Amino acid sequence: MMKSDGTKRETPTLHNQAEKGQIAECVLMPGDPQRARFIAENYLADARLVSEVRGIYAYTGSCRGRKVSVMASGMGAGSMGIYSYELFQFYGVEKIIRVGSAGGLSPHLALRDIVIGTASSTDTGYALQYGLPGTLAPCGDFGLARKAFDYAEKKGLGCRAGMLFSGEAFYYEEEILRKWAQMGALAVEMESAALYMNAAKTHKKALAICTISDLVFSGEKCSVEERQNSFDDMIKMALSIIT
Ligand code: ADE
Repeated sequence: MMKSDGTKRETPTLHNQAEKGQIAECVLMPGDPQRARFIAENYLADARLVSEVRGIYAYTGSCRGRKVSVMASGMGAGSMGIYSYELFQFYGVEKIIRVGSAGGLSPHLALRDIVIGTASSTDTGYALQYGLPGTLAPCGDFGLARKAFDYAEKKGLGCRAGMLFSGEAFYYEEEILRKWAQMGALAVEMESAALYMNAAKTHKKALAICTISDLVFSGEKCSVEERQNSFDDMIKMALSIIT
C-alpha cells in the first residue's frame, strides 16, 4: 500500500492491509465477507473499512461506546487459522468471537437455536504444528461462554452450550457425523477449532457462537428469512458479551 506522500506503508502482515491500531481489541468474525459488511453497516457506529485483501473485509467502528472490529474468517481451519492468528499475534487483538452457522447434530437442537462452543473437536491436522505429546482439547473461553449463556437465558433464546465438531470437510458421509453426534458433538462447523488453538497458542480469548442453519440428519434447512432473524439474535449476543 502507498501512503499519500508516495512512500510505501508497512502493514503487519501480507493478508491484512490495516495498520496496527486500526483494529479493535475485540473482533467479531463471521465466515462470509458480505456478513462482515452487513454487521459493520447495521450494528456498528461510524464503521470504516480497514482491510479488503482477497475480499476479506475488515471494518472498525464502535458499539455502546466501545471500539469493535468485524472481520471475515473465510471458510475452514486454514483460512480462520491465518486471519485469527494474525489478529492475535500482530494486531494486539485480545478477544475474537466467531459468529457463524452450523449444522445441528444433536436431536435436542432445532433450526435457529444458538450453540455456544465450549469445546471443539476436530479431524483437522491443525494441532500437529505444536508437536504435543498427546491430544489437545481446543476450548472456548469460559468467561465469554458464561456471559453468552446468561444473555441467552435472559432473552429466552433457544441455546445450548457444549462441544462442536469442527470438520476439515463440508461434505461428509453421514456415518462419520453420526459418530461425532454419538460422542456428544452438538453441531458441525469448520472454523472453531483453529480459532481456539490460536487463542491457546497466543494466550488470548475466543468463543464460537453458531446459529443452527440446517439439521444434518433430517435435511431441514432455514429459510432466508429465518436465517436473518437468528443471525440478529446471535450478533446481539456477541456484542453484548464484549461491550
Ligand atoms: N455450517 C452450516 N451448516 C454446516 C454443515 N452442515 N457443515 C459444516 N458447516 C456448516
